[in-house]
Formats: sequence, structure tokens, C-alpha cells
Amino acid sequence: MADIGFDGKVAIITGAGGGLGREHALELARRGARIVVNDLGGSVSGDGGDVGPAQAVVQEIVALGGEAVADTNSVATPEGGEAIVKSAVDAFGTVDIVVNNAGILRDKSFQNLDQAMIEAVIQVHLLGAFYVTQPAYRIMREKGYGRIVSTSSNSGILGNFGQSNYGAAKMGLVGLTRVLAIEGRKHNIKANAIAPVALTRMTEDMFGDVGQALDPGLVSPLVAYLSSEACEVSGEVYSAAGGIISRFFIGLTPGYYNPKLTAEDIAENLAEIRDDAGYTVPRDNNDEIKKIVSTIQGADEG
Ligand code: NAI
Repeated sequence: MADIGFDGKVAIITGAGGGLGREHALELARRGARIVVNDLGGSVSGDGGDVGPAQAVVQEIVALGGEAVADTNSVATPEGGEAIVKSAVDAFGTVDIVVNNAGILRDKSFQNLDQAMIEAVIQVHLLGAFYVTQPAYRIMREKGYGRIVSTSSNSGILGNFGQSNYGAAKMGLVGLTRVLAIEGRKHNIKANAIAPVALTRMTEDMFGDVGQALDPGLVSPLVAYLSSEACEVSGEVYSAAGGIISRFFIGLTPGYYNPKLTAEDIAENLAEIRDDAGYTVPRDNNDEIKKIVSTIQGADEG
């Protein structure tokens, strides 16, 4: 297997002043990418701001012999997103890779969540990915090359108490990724999502003893693969935790068909509807439509 290198490719990594984003920035820089280290330098809840973290990571990259610039715009506004992409174009002439990693937490059980907590989290994670990726995507589309990696979470894919705002935003990124993969296909733009589990300031009290094994640096090989030319997949979601890599997927059970369906039929046939024996993993929504058509036509013919 040839080494995975980036040969001067330009990568924007949001929220790269610490935690996972810093590791991704260092990993891609070591492999030859030129990096925009974006980070507004706030707290875990997104308050405050500091140019220090982004600049410190730039210095680390330069000390390794790499190339990087710091950017402290917020991903959470359209102007911020445009400015981040402009930083890449001004410094390096283009953008090839976007890693949507910036994130904050405002955890609260659903009944106690206020409007500000809902909006702040969705703005950074979900809208932030739109604001940064869209201007970058236009450049990628024009030149026929791009890689987009968005940071989802098992809190959205699987659910987690107290994280309805965060979980909804993180699952929203899966939808964005799937559509970008379809729209980007003929322009050689690949979009994938990751669901990391790693010990960072965001998770410092969560893992107990096993935390030591959850080195954020062990998520970065996945980001390097997915943002490289060698990446063979698009529209997929991978879990990365302490060196374990797995694929999350959305499966469809064979289901139950009754053209005269009633609510009572559903209650009576729930076990068959839910039975995952023989499930399929539709590639896109057309794939599901084909299955629907073939079930209906098959029954008509039978
Ligand atoms: P972190 O708090 O160290 O990193 C997040 C970074 O994003 C911070 O440096 C912060 O300053 C920056 N940031 C926040 N709002 C920003 C904004 N508006 N514009 C630019 N930068 C902003 O935490 P960690 O763990 O490294 O998180 C990275 C990503 O991974 C986040 O999206 C998080 O939700 C996600 N994640 C982390 C998991 C973990 O186990 N650590 C689990 C699942 C997802």
C-alpha cells in the first residue's frame, strides 16, 4: 500500500486549536498538507475567544517543517464561513479539504433547554458546517476535486440523555454528508462523517480509567484517510475510538406489505416489520424507491 500523502493539498480544519482538531491538523500537516488552523478559542460551552490556541497549533506545524495559517473566525455565521475559506485562498490559493470539527456543548434535559442553548449548538455544529463547506464546495466543484469530513457523534446517531440540541445537530450532519456525497459524485468530491470517541476537554469526566486509551490522535488516521485522494468511500459514517474503526450504517428491514394497511395491521405485525433478518443498506433514496416499486409490482404480478 502506497503511503497516504497530501502533496501540498490545502485543508481547512475548524476548531483545530485543541482536542481532536489539533490532532487532525498535525496529522495532515505531517503528511504534506497546507493547513488553515481555524479556532475561535472559546470555552467548551462556546463562550469567550482567544487567538492563542490557533496560533499555537500553527507554531507546532511550522516546527514540524509544515505550512499553516491561523484563522480565528467563528464557523457559526455565513460571514465567518466565507472568511475562513478566504483565509485558505489568500494563503494557499485554493481549498481541497474541509474538516468540520468545531463544536460546543450546552447539555440540558429536553424540558429545561432554552432557545439560546438550542440555537447556539445548532449554529456551531450544523449551520457552521453549511457556512464553511458551501463556499469551499463551490471552489472544489469548479476544479473537480474535494474531500469533506464532518464530525458527527454517537450522541446523535444513537442518542444520549441531555443532548437533544447536540444530537439533532450531529445527526443533521449525517444528512448533509449523504446529500453532499450524491451531489459531489460527478465532481470527484467525497463527503463522509466521523463519530469519534476520544478523551479531550469536552469529555474529560466521561470515560473513567479507559479514558487513557482514547487518545484523540487515534481518530486522526481516519480523518487522514477520508480526506485523501486514496479515499474510496463517500456518504458514509465511521466510528473511531482508541484505534477501533467501524462503520455505522442505516439499514432497512425487508418489512411487511399490505396494500390495505391499517393501524391494527401494524400492531399485529410489528415483529415482522422490525425483524432485521435480511436487511438492506440502501445507497440513496432512489435505492429505497426501487425496493418499494419492486415490492408493489412483485405483489401485483404474484
Ligand atoms: P474541544 O472542545 O477540544 O474542541 C472543539 C474546538 O472547537 C475548540 O477548540 C473550540 O474553541 C472550537 N470552536 C467552538 N466553537 C467554534 C466556532 N464557532 N468557530 C470556530 N471554532 C470553534 O473538543 P473535541 O472533543 O476535540 O471536539 C471536536 C469535535 O468532535 C466536536 O465537534 C465534538 O462535538 C466532536 N465529538 C467529540 C467527541 C469526543 O469524544 N471528544 C465525541 C463525539 C463528537
